[in-house]
Amino acid sequence: MWPDEIDKKTVLYGTGAVGGAIAAAAGLYRFLYPYALRDRRQAQLEMAVIERFTNIITSGGTVLTQWADAVRRQPDKPFLLSGAEVHTYRDVDNMANRTANFFHRRGFRKGDTVALLIYNEPAFVWTFLGLAKVGVKMALLNTNLRGQAMMHCFRIAGATSLIVGQGQPLLDATLELLPELQAEGATIWLQGSAPPPAGVSALDGLVQQESDQPLPSPVSITPADTLCYIYTSGTTGLPKAAIILHGKFLAISYTLVHYAGVQSDDIFYITLPMYHTSGLALGLGTAITKGATVAFRSKFSVRHFWDDCRRYNATVIIYIGELLRYLCTAPERPDDKDHKVRLAFGNGLRPDIWEQFQDRFGIPRIGEFYGMTEGPMGLINVHNKVGAVGVASPAYRTHKPFTLIGCDIDTGEPIRRKDGKCTEVKIGAPGLLVTPVPPDAPYTGYLGKPELTEKKILRNVFQDGDAFFNTGDLMMIDRDYFIYFVDRVGDTFRWKGENVATTEVAQVLSKMAGVQEVNVYGVKVPGQDGRAGMASIIPQPGQKPDFRRWYRYITTKLPTYARPLFLRLTQQIQVTGTFKHQKAALVKEGFDPRRVKDPLFVIDNAKKSYVSLGETAYRKIAGGQARL
Ligand SMILES: *[C@@H]1O[C@H](CO)[C@@H](O)[C@H](O)[C@H]1NC(C)=O
Ligand SMILES: *[C@@H]1O[C@H](CO)[C@@H](O)[C@H](O)[C@H]1NC(C)=O
Repeated sequence: MWPDEIDKKTVLYGTGAVGGAIAAAAGLYRFLYPYALRDRRQAQLEMAVIERFTNIITSGGTVLTQWADAVRRQPDKPFLLSGAEVHTYRDVDNMANRTANFFHRRGFRKGDTVALLIYNEPAFVWTFLGLAKVGVKMALLNTNLRGQAMMHCFRIAGATSLIVGQGQPLLDATLELLPELQAEGATIWLQGSAPPPAGVSALDGLVQQESDQPLPSPVSITPADTLCYIYTSGTTGLPKAAIILHGKFLAISYTLVHYAGVQSDDIFYITLPMYHTSGLALGLGTAITKGATVAFRSKFSVRHFWDDCRRYNATVIIYIGELLRYLCTAPERPDDKDHKVRLAFGNGLRPDIWEQFQDRFGIPRIGEFYGMTEGPMGLINVHNKVGAVGVASPAYRTHKPFTLIGCDIDTGEPIRRKDGKCTEVKIGAPGLLVTPVPPDAPYTGYLGKPELTEKKILRNVFQDGDAFFNTGDLMMIDRDYFIYFVDRVGDTFRWKGENVATTEVAQVLSKMAGVQEVNVYGVKVPGQDGRAGMASIIPQPGQKPDFRRWYRYITTKLPTYARPLFLRLTQQIQVTGTFKHQKAALVKEGFDPRRVKDPLFVIDNAKKSYVSLGETAYRKIAGGQARL
C-alpha cells in the first residue's frame, strides 16, 4: 500500500511542535524513500488517465469515434503532410468514406479481412480508416516480406483481398505470388496512377467515383471488435499475427500520450512503418486521439530526417532505439539543433546513446516506454531518467502488478524451487519480467492455434492456479526503483528493429546442404543495438562447407535482419539438461577470433559468400568501420 506517512504529513503540517516533529519525520522519510512521492504521482496520473480511458471504452469509444470527434472539431486543420501534399481532416475523412463505400458496395462486411501492403503514405491512412468504418479487419503486411512469408501472412489472417500501395517493389512482390493469390480466390487492388498489370485491378479511379457520404447503413463497432492484425517476429516466413482489438489500439494511442504531454498543435514526424505498433498506434493513433498533425516519409532516411523535421515543423518524433543510433552516427552539422522537435517518444533507447542524442540534437524530453504488441502491460519513463523504462517501487506495483523472477539465462525458462514455485529476484539483479493475467481479462494473444498463445503464459508461479504473462524480457530494478530493460532472453533477439526467433532460423539452416547440426544465437556488436545473428554449425562428416551455396540458400530463405552475419564451424554443440542448445557461453565468446577457437566466418555480400573472419576484419567491425 501507499505509505500512510505521506497523507498524515499533509494533514498535520504546521500544528506546532508536533507538526515540526512530523515535518522533520516527513523530510527524513522523503530523504530515505524519495521514490515514494514520485511513484505515487505517476500512479495517480496513470489512474486518472485510465479512468478517462475506461469512460471512453465503456461508452463504446474506438479510434473511429476519436477520429469523428477530431474531424468535427477541426475539419480544416492539416492532418497529413507528405512531400508537398497537405490533406486536412475533412479531406482524409472524405477519402475514408469513399473507400468505405467502395468496399461496402462490393459486399465486404464486418468480420471480413483485407490485407494491406502499403508504404507510409496518405493513402495508407484513408484506406485504414475506410476499412475500419466498414468493420473489415486489416492484415497489415510487412512491406519487406516476400514469397512464402508474405503468402503465409495473407493466409493465416483469412484475407480475401489484397490492397497494394504505390511503389514498384510492392507490385513485384505481389506479382511473384499472383498464381497463388488467385488460387486462393483473392482480389488484388492496386493504388496509384500506374496502369495495373493483368490479374490486378486499379483502385483509385473507382474509389474517387464513390460517394463521400457515410455508409448507407451504420455499422456498430465496439472496443471488443478486431481492428487489425500486426505481425510479429517474421524471422523465417512464419510470422504470428497479433490480434489488435479496437480497445487495445485505443489503449496504446490514448493513454501513453498523456504521460508525455502531447498536444493537439503537435506535429508528428513518422518514419517507422505503419504495419508495426509504434508507427501505427503510437504515431498515427496518438495523433488522431489528440487531433494533431502527421508528417510522413515512406522510409526512414538518416540524410533526410532533420531536413524533414524542419520542413514540416515537426515537434514530436516516434523512435525505436536503432533509429536514434543511426541519427547519431551521421556526421555532425552546424544546424543539428535547428529544429522544433521537443519530444522523442518510443522504445529501445539504450543508455549509451540516450544522452548523446539529447545533447547533440537538443531534445528536451525523451518519453521512453516499454510494451509489446501482443503483451498486456506497459511501462513508461516520464522522468527523463537516462536508460530507465519506468518506475517499479513496491507501492507502484500495487497499482500495476508485475514482478521480476529468476530465470535460466540460457533458455529463458523460469527457475523453479523444489516446491515448483518461482522466486522474485533481488534489487540490482536481472530477472524475467512477468505480469499477472487477470482472470476477467484474458490475454487475446495470437491468431491461430491456442498453443501459440499458451506458450506465453506461465502457470503456478507463486501459487497454485495463478497465471502470468511471460514477456521474455530481462529487466533490472535499481535502488531508486527505476526499472531498466536488460536483454531479451532465450529464443529471440532483436536486430535492425525486428525480432529474430533463433529456433526458426535454426530450422531453416538445418536444412542447408552439408549441415549436421546448428545452434543459432545473437551476439553483441560494439556500437550496434540488439544482437547480430550468429550460427554455430557442425558440418556433416566428410563434407567441406560450400559457403557460396550456403550464402545463396540463406539469402533466399531469410529476410536481411534474420540472416546470420557470423558462422562458427564446430565439432560439438553443448546442450542443457533438457537437451536444449546452450547459448550463453557462445553468446559471450561472440565473434572475436582471439576468444573463439573454432574457425569463424563473416557474411560478405559483395562476394556473395561467407569469408574467413580474421583479427583485422574483426577490429574493423568492432570499431564500427564495417557496414553490417
Ligand atoms: C463521412 O462519414 C462519417 C461517418 O463515418 C460522417 O460523420 C461524415 O459526415 C461523412 N462525411 C461526409 C462528407 O458526409
Ligand atoms: C513552419 O513554421 C514557419 C515559421 O513558423 C512557417 O513560416 C512555415 O509555413 C511552417 N511550415 C509548415 C509546413 O507549416
